[in-house]
Amino acid sequence: MGHAHPLLSDAVTAQIQRLHHVSNLFYIPEQGELAKWIVEHSCADKVFFCNSGAEANEAAIKLVRKYAHTMVEFLDEPVILSAQSSFHGRTLATITATGQPKYQKNFDPLPDGFAYVPYNDIQALKEAIADCDEGNRRVAAVMLEALQGEGGVRPGDVEYFKAVRQICDENNILLVLDEVQVGVGRTGKYWGYENLGIEPDIFTSAKGLAGGIPIGAMMCKDSCAVFNPGEHASTFGGNPFSCAAGLAVVQALESENLLENVNARGQQLRTALETLAAKYDYFVEARGWGLINGLEIKTDLDLTSIQIVKTAMDNGLLIAPAGPKVLRFVPPLIVSEAEVDEAIAILDKTLSELSL
Ligand SMILES: Cc1ncc(COP(=O)(O)O)c(C=O)c1O
Repeated sequence: MGHAHPLLSDAVTAQIQRLHHVSNLFYIPEQGELAKWIVEHSCADKVFFCNSGAEANEAAIKLVRKYAHTMVEFLDEPVILSAQSSFHGRTLATITATGQPKYQKNFDPLPDGFAYVPYNDIQALKEAIADCDEGNRRVAAVMLEALQGEGGVRPGDVEYFKAVRQICDENNILLVLDEVQVGVGRTGKYWGYENLGIEPDIFTSAKGLAGGIPIGAMMCKDSCAVFNPGEHASTFGGNPFSCAAGLAVVQALESENLLENVNARGQQLRTALETLAAKYDYFVEARGWGLINGLEIKTDLDLTSIQIVKTAMDNGLLIAPAGPKVLRFVPPLIVSEAEVDEAIAILDKTLSELSL
């Protein structure tokens, strides 16, 4: 939504002047309305609100475990399979779900019940499910990003996700999608999973959901909604202030046709990145969905994403690394055609300044 978007600014100003926090023992209308919007615009039946992406994933992990203990026979040691190169947050359970040792280093002992598979590799997933099957230990959930963000802007493969869905259905395994980075319109659809032709049992959101006001959400289908009231909770989760912000965002998505803008600007950006990749012999490819795009640097080149990010920043363009060899472009959903052109011109200048 960019900075100081009038709809967001008006909504949070009005809300803080009326009521910004109340115990969640009371019904919070803004929370109900935001949950209603999400349920009506996704495959979910229920929503739990918290304050960040990591917390939303924690809620998903707890829900998976309770489902395994109460709904799947004799499942004492449920395992969650997640992907190598994934990112799911910085709490103890979510760094454990994150399949990158650098985020876990020095924080052990880590919680049990996690194992890792290569992303987009169905044979490896089948083998891992078989490997985990021992006594009362079994895979209870597969937890994946619809597109790996931190892991290098790697979109999920449609055939892979369809096969994962089928394996999960056949084995009473829950499919959890972490949509913290790609949900709420970023990919040109409301939710990342819509690009994959499948529905998850559980998915999570945060980041853009309230336009930069802290919020997190864990969504699930009724078939796995096993939390009882009060069993999982958060003091600030779903407070009137952040939910009013979330409502302003989702209403703007509709009233300002933001998905259309994301698709048009995303296409413009990707085509321009492909042109730059052809002009400079530094890159493997440009890839992404909507307004989350990556530009991968050749492995054998002595050039890192951070070097380009720093030079671009000196030139007035903010982009982010996604690992050492991928540049990540995640402009606001309201970005204009002229701004994309300006960003590309600065990137072009930046690349021409690199002496390799
Ligand atoms: C896919 C994904 N999951 C979870 C998180 C963690 O979210 P938060 O920083 O809000 O805890 C992030 C943050 O970058 C993310 O990209």
